[in-house]
Amino acid sequence: MELIDKLYKLKKERNAVILAHYYQEPAIQDVADFLGDSLALAQKAKGTNADVILFCGVHFMAETAKILNPTKTVLMPDLNAGCSLADSAPAGKFKQWVDEHPGHFFISYINCSTRVKAMSDVICTSSNAEKIVNSVPKDIKICFAPDKHLGAHIIKKTGRDMVLWDGTCQVHVLFSELEVINLMNKYPEAMMIAHPECPENILQYADFIGSTTGLLKYTSKSDAKEFIIATEPGIIHQMEKEVPGKKFYPIPNLDGCSCNNCPHMKLNTLEKMVAALENMSPEITMPEELRLKALKPLERMLELS
Ligand code: 13P
Ligand code: SF4
Repeated sequence: MELIDKLYKLKKERNAVILAHYYQEPAIQDVADFLGDSLALAQKAKGTNADVILFCGVHFMAETAKILNPTKTVLMPDLNAGCSLADSAPAGKFKQWVDEHPGHFFISYINCSTRVKAMSDVICTSSNAEKIVNSVPKDIKICFAPDKHLGAHIIKKTGRDMVLWDGTCQVHVLFSELEVINLMNKYPEAMMIAHPECPENILQYADFIGSTTGLLKYTSKSDAKEFIIATEPGIIHQMEKEVPGKKFYPIPNLDGCSCNNCPHMKLNTLEKMVAALENMSPEITMPEELRLKALKPLERMLELS
């Protein structure tokens, strides 16, 4: 309680807003001013009047906030909170890929670095990827990075042939297909819902596929009372809060453990949030020239969303 009082006091003093992703630990979700998926968090960051954005998520999300709203001080509780997808696409290798595909249109999933964004034509998130791909004229060839599973899912949905970068989310590739089948047998009335970062062997069982916000909305709108959840289990806290009375079953990993936590997201803690507001650090900064290059494809995405 003392820690939370301190956090609220500092938040007021700094005129800060706390933005958090659904994969944050429950205590962080409960003190956030706004919770959302990558798209909603980017939109919120762009529109905030606060002087300071305390971003409780991972690095690419906080960078996106800074790109979109550069006059604000963007803080992270822990600067080491990265993302395996962003790490799979180092800027140098991505530049080589761009050079190897002349005449292609580069769509990058928001889970990538600012440097990769700066070399992309448009950015997408899990909630608008289909729309963004469909907005590209049919005669233009598309390269999609860095998530090959999201890319494959969008190819299936749009019928567009795309060259895919070979990246994956270290959390969403770990779900066990056998455990999905076991859970479906155990809870035959349950709807199976999945994030599109899951591989096809998991997505094939899904009654609904969507972004974190999409999954949350589905559990509230659906008449079903039970759900098998194929995404990071942090979101179950919000599902239980928003849709009390329904049941949510996380899918165990290949090793049988129901602990599909994103190790990066879970680096953030209440203690680190307080320290960040106290010290006004760690802060997200970037060269202005780079920011302006990354802003273009992000703005294009926001216009299309
Ligand atoms: P959402 O945009 O659906 O919240 O996904 C972000 C993410 O990192 C999923 O692993
Ligand atoms: Fe990145 Fe996967 Fe963690 Fe999302 S869950 S932040 S894609 S490593």
